[in-house]
Amino acid sequence: MSKPIHILMAPLEGVTDRVYRGCFYDHFPGLKASLTPFLPIPDRVQRVSSGNLGDVCFPGNSNVYEIPQLLLSEADSFLLAIDALQKRGFSEVNWNLGCPSRGVIKKGKGAGLMPRTSHILEVLDKVLARTDIQISLKLRMGLYESEELFRLLPSLRDYPLNRVILHPRLGTQMYTGSVDLDGFQKALDLYGKQICYNGDINTGLDFLALQKRFPSVDEWMIGRGLVANPFLLKEILQFNEVSGCSGDQLENPFKQKAFYDFLEDLYGRIKEKITRKEAFWNYFKGILIYSFSHSYIPPEKRKELFRIRIEEDWFQLKNSLQLLYLDQ
Ligand SMILES: Cc1cc2nc3c(=O)[nH]c(=O)nc-3n(C[C@H](O)[C@H](O)[C@H](O)COP(=O)(O)O)c2cc1C
Repeated sequence: MSKPIHILMAPLEGVTDRVYRGCFYDHFPGLKASLTPFLPIPDRVQRVSSGNLGDVCFPGNSNVYEIPQLLLSEADSFLLAIDALQKRGFSEVNWNLGCPSRGVIKKGKGAGLMPRTSHILEVLDKVLARTDIQISLKLRMGLYESEELFRLLPSLRDYPLNRVILHPRLGTQMYTGSVDLDGFQKALDLYGKQICYNGDINTGLDFLALQKRFPSVDEWMIGRGLVANPFLLKEILQFNEVSGCSGDQLENPFKQKAFYDFLEDLYGRIKEKITRKEAFWNYFKGILIYSFSHSYIPPEKRKELFRIRIEEDWFQLKNSLQLLYLDQ
């Protein structure tokens, strides 16, 4: 019997928002769970308002298990946010220790926390003593160096964390350069428990190579690869069912009717939410750009996306997209 594969959707702030996630779940089933993009909770906040929780819906309203993610650095705001989320019915929260944006690091949050081992442990001690919610962490190798993670992991072993997700890049790398696979292996050894792998899974072959290298891993989190090509989910999940699958079945999504059905549905749902034309187009193109950046689209085609005019309606847009691939 082959090992089960669990795929989680990674949070992409500005992309995988509530509307996008809901639409994705309806068209592409099979995700085990999904992390919301970070909910920014100010330090020394007195009350966590529904404005702070805007990107999460009530768990009963989603057909995929959603884990709200918190971007904060203090135990008090952590506990207030947990309280607000528990009232909505959530049973797990994720703490973001990976966001590499300069503004976030300056405030000592996200990956800015990675060098502060004792502070991370103090926050966890305080929070875990006062809540029964499940806590998971999303980590990077460190902010400046992987020693930060290697220092933290042996201590984390004693904490009752629900899951640990690791994107094996340093904060200073942002999303560039290569993922540190030797570092990921060392992290597995030091932690001694399951770690969910996240980073640069864009094709079935990427997944197969990683699965071969880390056979003990059973949770995989994917962000940009799923937005670029949602069929990647099915392709990976089928590896276990279809013997002999080579991992190179992934097709250009623009050649698939199901992709247009998804885009049309998303188009309608976003249009209801964002009425200002320019904002709507920026949002929609912000999503399409991931598909256009994928290896199955020649780089020169990317600028065609930006030639699509704001005035175009769904049918004109669909036409433009179909024309782009037809002349390839
Ligand atoms: C535009 C963008 C927004 C992101 N927003 C978040 C976020 O809100 N929370 C988080 O933990 N990671 C965030 N990430 C990081 C991703 O969740 C993920 O760790 C990273 O993209 C690597 O995975 P991938 O190669 O599968 O995309 C973001 C990444 C990008 C490119």
